[in-house]
Amino acid sequence: MDATTNDLTVLERDLMARLDAANDEASLEALRVEALGKQGSISALMRNLGTMSPDERKTYGAALNVLKDKLTETILTKKAGIAEAELDRQLQSEAVDVTLPPVKPRLGTIHPVSQVMEELAQIFGEMGFALEEGPDIETDFNNFTALNFPPKHPARETHDTFFMNARDEKGERKVLRTHTSPVQVRTMLKQKPPIRMICMGRTFRKDSDATHTPMFHQIEGLVIDETSTMADLKSVLIAAIKAYFEVDDVRLRFRPHHFPFTEPSAEVDVGCDRSGGQIKIGTGEDWLEILGCGMVHPNVLKQCGLDPEKYQGYAFGMGIDRLAMLKYGMPDLRDFFAADTRWLKHYGFSPYLLPGLAQGVG
Ligand code: DAH
Repeated sequence: MDATTNDLTVLERDLMARLDAANDEASLEALRVEALGKQGSISALMRNLGTMSPDERKTYGAALNVLKDKLTETILTKKAGIAEAELDRQLQSEAVDVTLPPVKPRLGTIHPVSQVMEELAQIFGEMGFALEEGPDIETDFNNFTALNFPPKHPARETHDTFFMNARDEKGERKVLRTHTSPVQVRTMLKQKPPIRMICMGRTFRKDSDATHTPMFHQIEGLVIDETSTMADLKSVLIAAIKAYFEVDDVRLRFRPHHFPFTEPSAEVDVGCDRSGGQIKIGTGEDWLEILGCGMVHPNVLKQCGLDPEKYQGYAFGMGIDRLAMLKYGMPDLRDFFAADTRWLKHYGFSPYLLPGLAQGVG
């Protein structure tokens, strides 16, 4: 072996030893550039070939090419090995252990108003009430006239109505519905008796304090057939209130009242205890007003195209937010609509626990 090929053996041993020690992509690349790059040691030796005698060039050139191929091959193999190891490591770290319990996804919480609506839909659904809907923006006819509020009558004023600016074809201004009762009208206009429906949704009045907000929620109920009486109304309400508050001995007091759309009319109070500063339903000697109801007024039936000689029925209306406050203990109604996530976390309900009568509505 002449001196030059001997040098090559030394160079090879050195490069191979360093390649052996290189354990990452960057140091492998650095070694490749150092040996095989344009300015690299092997490339410099290649350039030297021109100065050699043809015989020397033949043996030395061949040896140089063998070394070059060996280095290229080794570097490629090592690089592939490192990439594979990296992929393995990544797969390991991302592996899913399907035997672990599921991670609870953060779905937010159910707003108490939605929860109570869900509960009420269950309760009245079990009693055969269908769910109806109506729009927030109503005609004056549906919100007032058909419900036996005479035009210009002062009873309209008790509702602190929000009127829309534009006038419709009849020269009337639409209103933000002041109660859910217009959905009674819509249902009677589109469907012949027997009718047994509830409706829930937003209602609007110009009012704001701890127990009033300009937007609030109501539930409305309506039954029209040829036989239903005030006694049926009473038994339905007692059953519903018991189911909602989940107490067996709820006391209800029906007080004579006046609504334009019912005759006779009553306000209903629920027995409660206010002694501890908080209102407790189901015990105590106090009373709290929770709903309005009555037998549907013959004028309302007439306005909705039904013959009052043939048909009769009852209706009721309740504040949903008020029901939520009473059951779940929120002191201030305005917090319901403040969009404060801390409040929601405190009072909100898990989306996994939708109410059903089998597992309890609360
Ligand atoms: N609409 C009434 C209100 O908002 C509540 C009400 C009372 C509804 C008696 C009824 C009813 O259906 O019969 O104050």
